[in-house]
Amino acid sequence: MKRIQIINGPNLNLLGKREPTVYGNQTFEAYLVELKKKFSEIELVYFQSNNEGDLIDKLQETGFTFDGIVLNAGAYTHTSVAIADAIRSITTPVVEVHISNVFKRESFRHHSFLSEVCKGCIVGFGMDSYRLAVDAILHF
Ligand code: DQA
Repeated sequence: MKRIQIINGPNLNLLGKREPTVYGNQTFEAYLVELKKKFSEIELVYFQSNNEGDLIDKLQETGFTFDGIVLNAGAYTHTSVAIADAIRSITTPVVEVHISNVFKRESFRHHSFLSEVCKGCIVGFGMDSYRLAVDAILHF
């Protein structure tokens, strides 16, 4: 059975109540139930943290054994050389995901330290970005 790790970074624990005009009304937990139903043939494991080091620990922990990692690093996307280095150091392919279209937003969101070390990026499809990322991993 294929195993895919989903990692959400800072403030994504507030999905459902955080800036709903940007991120929608659904909690990630509710979305995950749908996602697990859709991909019942694989194991989807979810982790969220607001702390950079915890995200790095999770990448290191799952990054040699899982079939793919779906990573929404939140604002760390635009700041974290350390997360980029963690992705460089592991062998599991990572797909960078964003709920919002970061290119339609403030210019500081246009640069990602992670994109160049990820297998690919999915940006701007709302929560469906995660489904597209899982699909992409299954078709590598
Ligand atoms: C985000 C976009 C980031 O710029 C922002 O800091 C987030 C969420 C997204 O999913 O659209 O926290 O990664």
